[in-house]
Amino acid sequence: MKKLNLYITPALCAIFILAVDSEARQRMDEPDATVIINADQGKETISRHIYGHFSEHLGHCIYGGYWVGKDSDIPNTNGIRNDVVDALRKINIPNLRWPGGCFADEYHWMDGIGPASERPKMVNTHWGGVTEDNSFGTHEFMELCEQLGTEPVICGNVGSGTVKEMSQWVEYLNFDGISPMADLRRVNGREEPWGVKYWGVGNENWGCGGNMTPEFYADQYRRFATFCRNYGENRLFRIAGGANSEDVNWTEVLMQRIPHRMMDGLSLHYYTSNWRDKGSATDFGEDRYFDILGRCLEIERTIDRHITIMDRYDPYKRVALVFDEWGTWYDVEPGTNPGFLFQQNTMRDALVAALTLNYLNERCDRVKMANIAQTINVLQALIFTEGDQMLVTPTYHIFDMYKVHHDAQLLPLSVDTPPYTFGDRSLPAISASASRDEDGKIHISLVNIDPGETRTLTVHLRGAAAKKVTGRILASEKMNSHNTFDEPNAVVPEKYTGARLDGDRIRMELPPRSVVVLELQ
Ligand code: AHR
Repeated sequence: MKKLNLYITPALCAIFILAVDSEARQRMDEPDATVIINADQGKETISRHIYGHFSEHLGHCIYGGYWVGKDSDIPNTNGIRNDVVDALRKINIPNLRWPGGCFADEYHWMDGIGPASERPKMVNTHWGGVTEDNSFGTHEFMELCEQLGTEPVICGNVGSGTVKEMSQWVEYLNFDGISPMADLRRVNGREEPWGVKYWGVGNENWGCGGNMTPEFYADQYRRFATFCRNYGENRLFRIAGGANSEDVNWTEVLMQRIPHRMMDGLSLHYYTSNWRDKGSATDFGEDRYFDILGRCLEIERTIDRHITIMDRYDPYKRVALVFDEWGTWYDVEPGTNPGFLFQQNTMRDALVAALTLNYLNERCDRVKMANIAQTINVLQALIFTEGDQMLVTPTYHIFDMYKVHHDAQLLPLSVDTPPYTFGDRSLPAISASASRDEDGKIHISLVNIDPGETRTLTVHLRGAAAKKVTGRILASEKMNSHNTFDEPNAVVPEKYTGARLDGDRIRMELPPRSVVVLELQ
C-alpha cells in the first residue's frame, strides 16, 4: 500500500484551528435549541416535597436496605445503616413515604410495636410471600426519619384495616396527653409525640388496596378521614388514595364526592413501563431507549388531564396533587426473586428522573408532593446495598444535582427544541426548568435525551443579570451505562465547563444523553 506522508506546517495548523473554531462559533450563533427564561416573573414555589421518596416493605428496601438490626456487623445506629443515612442526608430528602404501597393495606401497625421478639409475624402476600417479622415498625421508622432529618409520610390501612385501627395509630403518634394510645407509646419508650403531618388514607384502593369502586372508596375515605384527628397544634395533611395513570374517572369522582376541607391531597401513580413487555433494565437498544423516554414524557399529558379535572372542582388549588409513586419498572434482574422488584439503574433512568422532575417543577402550583419508587434496591432505586457494600445510582445523582430546586421560586420559561427522531417518531430533545433560590442564585436544569447528537443551546435570561456561570453534568459513555459494585463510579456527575456568558445569554453545548444543572450568580 502506498504510504501517505502528511506534512502539517504551523500555518496549516492555524488555518485548521480557525476553521474549526469558526464552525463552532457559527453553531453557537445558530443554536439547535433556545430557552427563554423570564427571571422577573416567578410566582410559584417548587415545594421541596416534590423531591420525596417512597420505601415499602418490599424485597430489600427496608430489610437489608435501611435496617440491619442493632447486632449487625454493618455499621449502624440503632439498627439503621449509617452509609445509607449519610448518602440520603447528602441529597436532603424532604420526606419518606412508608410502609407501602400495596403492603400498607395489609399492614397492622400494632404488630410492629413493643419488644421485637414478641411481635407477631405475617406473610407479605404482595411481595414474594416472605415472612415479615415486624422488626421494623413505627418506632424504627420514626427513628429513621429523625436520623435522615426528613418528614414522615405514613400510609394507613383502608383495604383490610378498620377505622379504629387507623384512628388509634394517629393518636399513638401524635397525642401528647393521657390516653390509651399515648400511654402505650410511653410504655414502648417514647415520651413525646412525634407530630406526624402527612397521612395517606389507603393506597391504590382501586386495586391491591381493596378493589373498590371510586364511589365506594370516596365514602370510605370520608369515614376513615373523619377519625384521623388533629392533636394539639399538629394539623394532619390527609391524602386520598388516587388514580392509576389514565383513570381520570377516579379523580373526578373523588373530587366530586369528598368535601375538599377533608382532603389536603389527592394522589396519583404513574410508572414508566412497557407493561406488555417490560424488558431489561440494562440490556436494551435504541428502540427501547426511545420507547421508555416517550412513555416518561407521557406523564405530562396524563397529569395535565388529572389537573384539568381538579381545576374544575377546585379552581383555587386547595387540594394538592400528590404524585406519590413514579419511576421506571422493568423485568427484575435475572436470578432475583420476581416479587422483590430489583432492577439495575442506568443513564436512561437518570434521564427519566430529570425529565419528570423538570415537568413536576413546572406544575408546582398544583403538585405539592411526589415520591419516587423506591429508595433502595427496588424499582427506580437511588441506592443499592449488598451485604456491607453500598452504591448510589445515576438516579441518585439527579436528585443530588436537582436539590438546588428545593423550595426555590419557579422561573417561567419556554423551550424551542429540535426533535430527537428515531425511525418515523420524534420526541422533543431538550427539556429545561429554572428556579431562583433564597440567596438569589438561579439554577437551570437542562436535559438532552438525544443519544447521538450534541445540541447547541442558547439560554436567554430576561429580567436578571448574571456575572458567573458554573455547572455540573451527568453524562455517560453509553445509553445503558450504570454503576456496579465493581465499578461504582461509572456514572457520576462532573464539573461542567461547556457554558459561556455572553451578555444576557448563555451559550452552551449539551452532549448526547446528558443532564446539566447550571448555577448563575
Ligand atoms: O411500588 C410497587 C407497587 O406499585 C406499590 O406497592 C403499589 O402501590 C404499586 O402498584
